[in-house]
Amino acid sequence: MDRVKTGISGLDEMLNGGIPIGRHVALYGGPGAGKTSFCYEFLYHGAQMGEPGLYVTLEETPDDIVENMKNTFPMLSEIGKLVSSKKLEIIKPDKLELEEVANLLEDRITSNGIKRAVIDSATMIRLSFKNDIEYRQTLFEFLSLLRNLDVTSITTLEASTSKREEMRYDIEHFVMDGIINLYNLDREDRRIRAMEVFKMRGTDHSRDLVPFKVTPSGVKVYVGEKVF
Ligand SMILES: Nc1ncnc2c1ncn2[C@@H]1O[C@H](COP(=O)(O)OP(=O)(O)OP(=O)(O)O)[C@@H](O)[C@H]1O
Ligand SMILES: [Mg+2]
Repeated sequence: MDRVKTGISGLDEMLNGGIPIGRHVALYGGPGAGKTSFCYEFLYHGAQMGEPGLYVTLEETPDDIVENMKNTFPMLSEIGKLVSSKKLEIIKPDKLELEEVANLLEDRITSNGIKRAVIDSATMIRLSFKNDIEYRQTLFEFLSLLRNLDVTSITTLEASTSKREEMRYDIEHFVMDGIINLYNLDREDRRIRAMEVFKMRGTDHSRDLVPFKVTPSGVKVYVGEKVF
């Protein structure tokens, strides 16, 4: 099976080589859990390997994303160059609609050969639906369309709790090909970052809860280490 290497230290090992190509993964996490950092790095490493990526930001402005990521990852060089050469496109659609996002993806795949895509975050889109059935149907149609395009994607979703035992199953848990959870676990006088690959259709993967850090040279996932 062909896989798309995320380039995130430790994560590809957990995924037995990377995300199966053409699959669509949801990345869950609470506020500040590291969702944007993970997604950004996924596109950054792709762009460096010559695979153009599209970052669809639904809340922050593209300038804010670039500014924050430059500050978070000062050792990931040439961010400005990747953006100006369109190896890494960051776009905020005019409307908060899945149809608008789908059109944008289709357009950038046709004209710029996008191979990796990020949608950050889909929670706003979900909130615009009045009922779950309508949302599930629209999400399903959106994924069917994505599957016809030659692209591998990560979509972020806001988790309503930082506690692992309180995570509920959402519609996306059943519809998406893969689920990765990021946690900001509460430990008396501090919080620690941890992650798990909860599901990944079509491949074996680690089922461990593992610690990770956001460092100036990228996210580091400490495979084989315990979370204390
Ligand atoms: N240079 C850095 N070194 C270490 N940690 C950093 C650095 N820059 C940012 N962080 C941490 O990363 C967090 C933000 O990560 P990120 O923006 O990826 O999270 P997020 O899940 O997208 O958040 P949000 O829910 O606000 O969108 C910050 O709250 C901070 O704790
Ligand atoms: Mg974010």
